[in-house]
Amino acid sequence: MADPYRIVVLASGSGSNLQSLIDTVHAPGGTEIVLVVGSRDGIVALDRATAAGIPVAVVTLSGRDRQERDVELAHVVAEARPDLVVLAGWMSILTGAFLDRFPDRVVNLHPSLLPSFPGLHAIRQALDWGVRWTGVTVHYAEEVVDGGPAILQEPVPVLYGDDEEALTARIREVEHRLVPETVRLFAAGRVHRDPTDRRKVLISPVEVE
Ligand code: GRF
Repeated sequence: MADPYRIVVLASGSGSNLQSLIDTVHAPGGTEIVLVVGSRDGIVALDRATAAGIPVAVVTLSGRDRQERDVELAHVVAEARPDLVVLAGWMSILTGAFLDRFPDRVVNLHPSLLPSFPGLHAIRQALDWGVRWTGVTVHYAEEVVDGGPAILQEPVPVLYGDDEEALTARIREVEHRLVPETVRLFAAGRVHRDPTDRRKVLISPVEVE
């Protein structure tokens, strides 16, 4: 049997995207979430992991230097030997002290069509701007916040009269498909950065026997 494909998920809040992974791709011995790390104690994401029998850890920033936190975070994550690290609602900026330990193996989720509306409150930013389309991006995490190359993107219309709650609900639905789809593509070995232009991502076709 093939080795399991090991995923570590980092989360800061409700963990609905973590739940979508648990419900769709998590299969012990196959594509397996081997650890969930929270940025704070008491977040719902940790309860969801525990309910699914997945080990949890908490690594907080709590007033210390970000790099110091990231050295500890990298250590905790590395111990779980991940093939892929998924930032699923992880709301704390990561430095090279973490990211450089897992080159091309950390992906982030963002609720807009990047490069539009990076940073906090992306959904509110889109509403305030009055755009007719926003969306969801899953991208490689790099030190520039929300700046790494896009892996999957999907547009979501902003409907006339949308408020933040309604648009958020529609964006969440797309996130809950795109994050598992990203993990499936990585687990199948189909995601690559173009060696001639690392800004570009290549998805290789399914091999037919
Ligand atoms: C997602 O919209 C993600 O894009 C954003 O935070 C939200 C996390 O939601 N950065 P959840 O914790 O997965 O429910």
